[in-house]
Amino acid sequence: MSAREWRIEVMHGVNLDQLGRRDPALYGTLTLAQLERRIEADARELGLATRFFHTNHEGEFVERLHALRDHADAILLNPGAWTHYAWAIRDALEIAALPALEIHLSDVESREPWRRTSVIRELCFATVSGRGPDGYGEALALLREALERTDRGSGSSAPAAGAHAVRRGRA
Ligand code: DQA
Repeated sequence: MSAREWRIEVMHGVNLDQLGRRDPALYGTLTLAQLERRIEADARELGLATRFFHTNHEGEFVERLHALRDHADAILLNPGAWTHYAWAIRDALEIAALPALEIHLSDVESREPWRRTSVIRELCFATVSGRGPDGYGEALALLREALERTDRGSGSSAPAAGAHAVRRGRA
């Protein structure tokens, strides 16, 4: 168990409040509330504290990122379709300057070509996609590992940017 309880901000973007109504073959059957409960339980097992945020409004997502500095140690974010084009979110993530992990329920690489673009990927130390709700547990474990590494190690504020890890496909 970690000596400190890391605080993870779990951020869901546009249309993710519609989980449960969206194509279950891509997104599963859990509602966002059910998914959040599951993430919270996974995080608790890892000794991580979670705080959840969802909005369908890009400006609110940006403002939440602006306000994170003193409230979170790392960000787990699934911006939904904003991932693929919302440069303002990319810039706000840069301003937040916290270790970040990009996550998608579906395997964005194997869907329409426009979903292969991610404007946030270069600012995230890892991407987990296509592993459904299980991917969040995996992402939390990666976040904890990264936070512990940077805590023990170099004093740098974020995991090495060059070491971007990608986990794809069904577990
Ligand atoms: C998503 C993938 C996006 O391409 C899509 O627009 C979403 C959800 C996912 O979790 O698989 O809304 O981020």
